[in-house]
Amino acid sequence: MGRTIQDKMTAPRIRARKASAGRGDRIVALTAYDHPTARALDVAGIDILLVGDSAGMVVHGLETTLPVTMEMMLMHTAAVARAHPRALVVADMPFLSYHTSSADAVRNAGRFVQEAGAEAVKVEGGRRRAEVVRAIVEAEIPVMGHLGLTPQSVNALGGYRVQGRSLPAVEALVEDARALEAAGVFSIVLEGLPGPVARIVTSSVSVPTIGIGAGSACDGQILVIHDVLGLTESEPPRFVRRYADLGAAITEAASRFAADVRSGAFPSERETYPCPPEVAEKLESPHSPAAGRHR
Ligand code: KIV
Repeated sequence: MGRTIQDKMTAPRIRARKASAGRGDRIVALTAYDHPTARALDVAGIDILLVGDSAGMVVHGLETTLPVTMEMMLMHTAAVARAHPRALVVADMPFLSYHTSSADAVRNAGRFVQEAGAEAVKVEGGRRRAEVVRAIVEAEIPVMGHLGLTPQSVNALGGYRVQGRSLPAVEALVEDARALEAAGVFSIVLEGLPGPVARIVTSSVSVPTIGIGAGSACDGQILVIHDVLGLTESEPPRFVRRYADLGAAITEAASRFAADVRSGAFPSERETYPCPPEVAEKLESPHSPAAGRHR
C-alpha cells in the first residue's frame, strides 16, 4: 500500500507529541548515515532519523566530532533522505557551521534542505545559540536543540562528562532549554544528564525532550545506531542497550566467504553465468582461440 502524506512525520507532529509522550506515545529516534540503514529503520517505524555528526566517529573512525565537515554531513544526509522515509530526517550541523554568524548558520542549514533533502537541522548549545536558532527558524527550517553533554564542546567541557551535577548547573540547563524553546525549536536532545535533572528540564518546557543517557523521563529516546547494532569497537557507555551483534555477524560471514573462496567452493555453477552451448563447445575444442594459452 502506498504511503499517504498523513503518514509522514514532520517537525510540527513531533512537537505535538509532547502532550501524548507520557501516555505511551514516546518519540523514537535513531541515528542513520546511509541509505540501506535508513530504509531498514523506517520499516521498523522509527519517528526520527538523525544524521548525527557522530558519523565522524562511528563511520569515519575519528576521535571526536570536531573534524566533521559540511561536505561529509551533506553526503550522509542525502543518502538517508534518498530513502524517502516516513521518519523525519534531521541533519546535524557540524562544528563551526553555525558558530561564526547567523548568516553562515542559515546558509549552511539551507544547504542541508536544498542540496541534501533534510527536513530539519540540529544545533548544539543553549542561550549562546538562541539567536542562531531563531534565524534558522525564521528561514522556515525546523531546528532541534541539543543540551547537556554536547560533544562539539568536548574541549570546553574538559571531556565527555555527565553534565548537570550541581544546582547552578541544573538551573543553567533549565534556562538554556527555555531559551531554545523561545527561539522556536521543535524538540531538544538531552544528552548525558542524571535522570532527575532531565526530568526537571523536560517538565520546564513545552517542546518534547529526546534523551540519550538522560534517563526515562524524557519525551523520547535516541541512540546511535552503531551502538544499538553492536558495530562499535569499544565497550559502549552505560546508557546503551545493544539489540544485535552485527560486528560478530559480519566477521562470521566474511570468514565463511574467505573459506569458500580459498577452498574453491565459491563461486558454484549456479553463481556463474552460463555460455551458449555452441560457444562452450567450441571453447572446449583443441582449435579454440584459447587453446594452448595460459591463464
Ligand atoms: O551526533 C549524534 O549522533 C547526536 C546524538 C547522539 C544525539 O548528536
